[in-house]
Amino acid sequence: AQVPVNVTVTGAAGQIGYALLFRIASGQLLGPDTPVNLRLLEIPQAVQAAEGTAMELDDCAFPLLRSVDVFDDARQAFDGANVALLVGARPRTKGMERGDLLEANGGIFKPQGEAINAGAADDVRVLVVGNPANSNALIAQAHAPDVPAEQFTAMTRLDHNRALSQLAKKLNVQVSEIKKLTIWGNHSATQYPDIFHAEVNGTTGAAAVNDQAWLENEFIPTVAKRGAAIIEARGASSAASAANAAIDHVYDWVNGTPEGDWTSAAVMSDGSYGVPEGLISSFPVVSRGGQWEIVQGLEIDSFSRERIDVSVKELSEEREAIAKLGLV
Ligand code: NAI
Repeated sequence: AQVPVNVTVTGAAGQIGYALLFRIASGQLLGPDTPVNLRLLEIPQAVQAAEGTAMELDDCAFPLLRSVDVFDDARQAFDGANVALLVGARPRTKGMERGDLLEANGGIFKPQGEAINAGAADDVRVLVVGNPANSNALIAQAHAPDVPAEQFTAMTRLDHNRALSQLAKKLNVQVSEIKKLTIWGNHSATQYPDIFHAEVNGTTGAAAVNDQAWLENEFIPTVAKRGAAIIEARGASSAASAANAAIDHVYDWVNGTPEGDWTSAAVMSDGSYGVPEGLISSFPVVSRGGQWEIVQGLEIDSFSRERIDVSVKELSEEREAIAKLGLV
């Protein structure tokens, strides 16, 4: 029998948590042969709600779910964690400047990074979902010096999936017919969804579309502002689709990306494509042997270069802001 994998989820009582936990427990995060222990972290006021979710998890009688524990202490929650999904974060409230937002999130992600450093399993894989995801991941990583930096990632898979779906609609093809799409940069409105390297039935995504105005005025803004459009329509932010993307990210990280394709994830830059080393930025990535690798050697034309640079500049500015606050 397989050894159970410890999966820690923060913000477990939130709306993404509610969409995520049942899918993890049913085997969709790690595969149908891997039992899981769920370790849920919440703030004290939300522990009771998380315990309610834990009761419902019991009531599903999932064969792969070995245990569910609820904590309000990060050290306990991350003890032995093999997978850490950092979903809980401090949202931007009205009138909040970027510096305030980063500082408030520093108060969450610094202690969580320290707790991961202190007690997580040696092979811990960290995915930060809570926004601002890239910088939150960087803060946690900076406080976990004993964990290889590559083990800290932030989520741009939802942006990737949104872009796939928009492009498939435009071209009237199935999403499975599109390969090698890329989200570059920050998980923010500056992100750049790149269809120039995408492959669709023997041509590139951009050539298949053959409509620069659509690319610039519809596709890129639709993908980048999709989160706001969901809030407008649903009266609440993306939750099930965000949970789905988190599942996709970790599943691919553990099990590998399919041959002949890649995906998007925000990973620690090694300087590839002119992205300063040490920024957690979205790249085209494959997963091999349980590790993300940045796809190398793509030619970046001036249109793409300009957009990648804008988003990466924003990441650099966020890093400077958190450095000023002593958070990295
Ligand atoms: P939510 O507000 O429904 O839930 C957040 C939960 O986190 C709450 O239950 C709260 O009590 C908990 N929490 C706050 N501080 C915590 C701490 N220090 N430790 C543990 N738990 C803590 O929010 P929702 O909709 O679940 O979204 C969560 C985050 O995910 C937000 O930051 C949101 O912006 C982000 N997000 C990111 C996406 C991405 O593509 N990267 C997509 C969609 C959402």
